[in-house]
Amino acid sequence: RVVAVIMVGGPTKGTRFRPLSLNTPKPLFPLAGQPMVNHPISACKRIPNLAQIYLIGFYEEREFALFVSSISNELRVPVRYLKEDKPHGSAGGLYNFRDQIMEESPSHIFLLNCDVCCSFPLAEMLEAHISYRGMGTILVIEVSPESANQFGELVADPVTNELLHYTEKPETFVSDRINCGVYIFTPDIFTAIQGVSSQRKDRATLRRVSSFEALQPANRSLPSDFVRLDQDILSPLAGKKQFYVYETTDYWEQIKTPGMSLKCSGLYLAQFRRTSPDLLASGDGTKNAAISGNVYIHPSAKVHPTAKIGPNASISANARIGAGVRLVHCIILDDVEIKENAVVIHAIVGWKSSIGRWSRVQASGDHNTKLGVTILGESVTVEDEVVVINSIVLPNKTMNVSVQEEIIL
Ligand code: GDD
Repeated sequence: RVVAVIMVGGPTKGTRFRPLSLNTPKPLFPLAGQPMVNHPISACKRIPNLAQIYLIGFYEEREFALFVSSISNELRVPVRYLKEDKPHGSAGGLYNFRDQIMEESPSHIFLLNCDVCCSFPLAEMLEAHISYRGMGTILVIEVSPESANQFGELVADPVTNELLHYTEKPETFVSDRINCGVYIFTPDIFTAIQGVSSQRKDRATLRRVSSFEALQPANRSLPSDFVRLDQDILSPLAGKKQFYVYETTDYWEQIKTPGMSLKCSGLYLAQFRRTSPDLLASGDGTKNAAISGNVYIHPSAKVHPTAKIGPNASISANARIGAGVRLVHCIILDDVEIKENAVVIHAIVGWKSSIGRWSRVQASGDHNTKLGVTILGESVTVEDEVVVINSIVLPNKTMNVSVQEEIIL
């Protein structure tokens, strides 16, 4: 039996995702028409002998209640939300719920960050992990040397795949192989976390009776129940035949900003094309709008037959798309209205927003720059013939003049 744990974090963690995280927890933000966390959940569903999926986070219970019950019914896999009373770090969060997790007597525990986008090759990882006979196996990928320092960089033995060295977001280059935030562990991981936590307690006691703190400044302010998987477990246990790596050559991205969510929505739409093309809109039939590339349209959305949609467009529930509208590389959220002949390119349009006739909401599409994707928060009104370029507009604003490269507060 195996179980899977998805770390969803909490409200203080999603600040770079504003303004889209102001009214929806980031893990529930839709990518390719499905909440972000649905993608790893669907991947877990494909693991043989999966008994349970746990979501661990410090969002309020009620924010996840509806989601958890509907996804459990839909996929027929029990999904439970376990709420931490405060952040315990990625390993501490797991440890905090060890009793619930061990109720299923799992032989293996998958651990996934909710804010990564990849093909989640979980069955292959499990097979590799069993052959390595270690405590854990980490999914890794090769990235460009310039971008590696945003992640955990690691070195592995090319023959045995043993993890030899691990440094979290190092200042000087270590390796172009990085930690993808997807792991599989044996239950021994709980003993390892417990070890770090006890060491912290001992140090704290020592500190009270000596000037030990001056020797260990890095550990000064961390409470004993706050344990990070990367710095506190992987770094010290590298090179001890405990951890191994499984390298993927598929796609992988991290979803920290709204711009990246647009890119990842496109990656998941492309995955649907390969695995479940029935989820995508088709351009056939004379009644339908012209569809190009991969497009998702919620069944309740109304799209005028003269609109042109795609590639990479995702249209959520109850959206109304008028005649002659052009939508390219965008996410249109629930209850949005886009009026006749408006154009949206490289943009995310927030819930209940409205875009006027002949208006343009667009951006350059450079996902790595802050204003490379235009974002309209919830209930923004763009009046007729207004142009909004490379900008972020906070909720409830009315745009009656055109803007470029601005953040409208
Ligand atoms: N429940 C809970 N409690 N979740 C948490 C907590 C916590 O206290 N802290 C972080 N998380 C969740 C986040 O929501 C996210 O899904 C995941 O754990 C990792 O978040 P961080 O610890 O903030 O790390 P990061 O995302 O900057 O980097 C980690 O992931 C990268 C891959 O995406 C590191 O492990 C990197 O090495 C790795 O490359």
